Amino acid sequence: KNIAIIMGGYSSEREISIKSGNVVYQYLDKTKYNAYRIIISTEKWIYLDDDNEEFPIDKADFSAVLPDGKISFDCVFNAIHGTPGEDGLLQAYFELLNIPQTSCNHYQAALTFNKRDLLSTLKPYGVQCATSFHLNLGETIDEAAILDKVGLPCFVKANRAGSSYGISKVHKREDLSDAIANAFSEDSEVIIESFLDGTEVSVGVITYNNEITVLPITEIVTENDFFDYEAKYLGKSQEITPARISKIQEENVTKWAKYIYKTLGLKGYTRSEFIFIGNDPHLLEVNTTPGLTEESILPQQANAAGISLEQLFGSAVEEALR
Ligand code: DAL
Ligand code: MG
Repeated sequence: KNIAIIMGGYSSEREISIKSGNVVYQYLDKTKYNAYRIIISTEKWIYLDDDNEEFPIDKADFSAVLPDGKISFDCVFNAIHGTPGEDGLLQAYFELLNIPQTSCNHYQAALTFNKRDLLSTLKPYGVQCATSFHLNLGETIDEAAILDKVGLPCFVKANRAGSSYGISKVHKREDLSDAIANAFSEDSEVIIESFLDGTEVSVGVITYNNEITVLPITEIVTENDFFDYEAKYLGKSQEITPARISKIQEENVTKWAKYIYKTLGLKGYTRSEFIFIGNDPHLLEVNTTPGLTEESILPQQANAAGISLEQLFGSAVEEALR
């Protein structure tokens, strides 16, 4: 089977995605699959061979065009974070082309990538989350109304982004407008959330051997003010697996993470972040193409569960082809 590992993308998370994609390329079992690295950029889509020679991708049928003919693909392994790989655009394209893919479908991707829409969809099911305020670019910013609703400190986030790009924690009212401008540099929508003061955990839920499986839970302990880009990728945090949480907290968060996966009908790998207020997990977000770099959490969780990267990636391809 020919597997296209797609990586790159159009957002600030591009370089992280290329790292994730290269990890997948490294560990995907070459005795079972022919793996191809496909780099998706705004300027061009290319197949990159082992000599780093580039060949164009024909977008009409998503094939790689080589001098001696075309290569078409049986499955897409999605390692793109952010647009267009995590927000449903590429999912819809591969659905139209009838090419199986490792991530969820276009609607689930679009919904989960939009923090406001995800949280408001899940609230009626009993999922708890922070109080929030949403802004569209160009809307009048009423700071008093925002702070009245969410209080201080608060988190200002790009509504549709990842890896903490566009996120600030605001402690003082004077810093709010800069934080909003910073979030608008990543997205045309901004979400401002009340600060949840509690232990943060990251929960990987995957379909593994045809079963929805919750991986060992990771606790995030950061040296920085919050789990920002530097904490995530430049070593300014400790990720402790299994998390040092109580039995009841573990049961609650496992139950909710699995419930969310099932309720939304997700597929493949997901990683959700929660903050505990007492024993109650509050959902921050769901990532449907979580990071797979050496620093990323999901590979560490798989490792703690005794699942090798070769098994993890192989299983995603088998699920997609099923
Ligand atoms: N958005 C980053 C890649 C993650 O969720 O791991
Ligand atoms: Mg994220």
